[in-house]
Amino acid sequence: MRQFNEDTLTAAVVARLKDTKDKRFREIMTAAVKHLHAFAREVHLTEEEWFEGIKFMTAVGQKCDDKRQEVILLSDVLGLSMMVVALNHKTAAGATEATVLGPFFAHGAKEYEYGADLREGATMKGEDVWVSGRVLSVDGKPIANAHLDIWQAKADGIYDLQTGGEFELRGRVKANAKGEYAFKSYKPKFYSIPMDGPVGDLVRATGNHHMRPAHMHAIASAPGYQQVITHVFVDGDPYLDGDAVFAVKDSLVAKYRKVNDAAEAKKLGLPNPFLKLHWDFRLAPETGLITETTSYPLGQANQALADLRAGIFQGAAVLVP
Ligand code: BEZ
Ligand code: FE
Repeated sequence: MRQFNEDTLTAAVVARLKDTKDKRFREIMTAAVKHLHAFAREVHLTEEEWFEGIKFMTAVGQKCDDKRQEVILLSDVLGLSMMVVALNHKTAAGATEATVLGPFFAHGAKEYEYGADLREGATMKGEDVWVSGRVLSVDGKPIANAHLDIWQAKADGIYDLQTGGEFELRGRVKANAKGEYAFKSYKPKFYSIPMDGPVGDLVRATGNHHMRPAHMHAIASAPGYQQVITHVFVDGDPYLDGDAVFAVKDSLVAKYRKVNDAAEAKKLGLPNPFLKLHWDFRLAPETGLITETTSYPLGQANQALADLRAGIFQGAAVLVP
């Protein structure tokens, strides 16, 4: 077969995939070709424009090295990462919604019991918060001994891993036998995605902001339950609308309430006034085989992605919001 035009070319390319052994690969490539061709036809792509596209993709690739990851950042700002989360982590009724993993999960964070202080060793102060709540099953029953892997930015919007120091404001928090957890921390702040590469140029060209609204990351897990990788966002944050990576869900926005009560502050070991965040995590029962364990919260596939994700900010200029 030869002599193709814009109407016959797509079918010809798809036909050439027909002997591809891996069926799933063939399905994915077939759809990719169809959509790519349809895209070119829809916008009537000019040669100059396609050349610009090639230069952009080349720049994204060239920005990457064994540490820096610009492709995942592109996937994030195009909403593709959240599309994959949405497709693969459909929330069971009543369960906490999943959202993007982000680049700053780290293994080896300290284990904390009820009431622990995640501010210990912090290099900067922030607004003191008493974070507490329960880990519940979707039917409202407490889950004993669940784990919460917690990490967040400091009060300046910068993560511990960005500046290469000791772990800060992160920990593996264990809920008690009644499913209750509590810890002291600082209120997180909004921050910028890396803007020193081609993805930054793309975001600038759209005129949108390049911020992630303030949030605390959490992975909630317990044996026999589906683990959830999620965030708890700060109600009132100026960037909740227009999150640079499309990760906000209304169900994940929480109120940090101001408390002015010297006696309670003293009891909790916090200065007065302070903030309180009350947040329950709800997990759906695991169906089928349990492959994740609580001591390895991400699972192997997620871990490989997390390792690559860690490169999003590697070597990027630290932008103080
Ligand atoms: C984060 O939440 O840490 C994050 C997620 C996606 C891109 C950049 C940062
Ligand atoms: Fe984050």
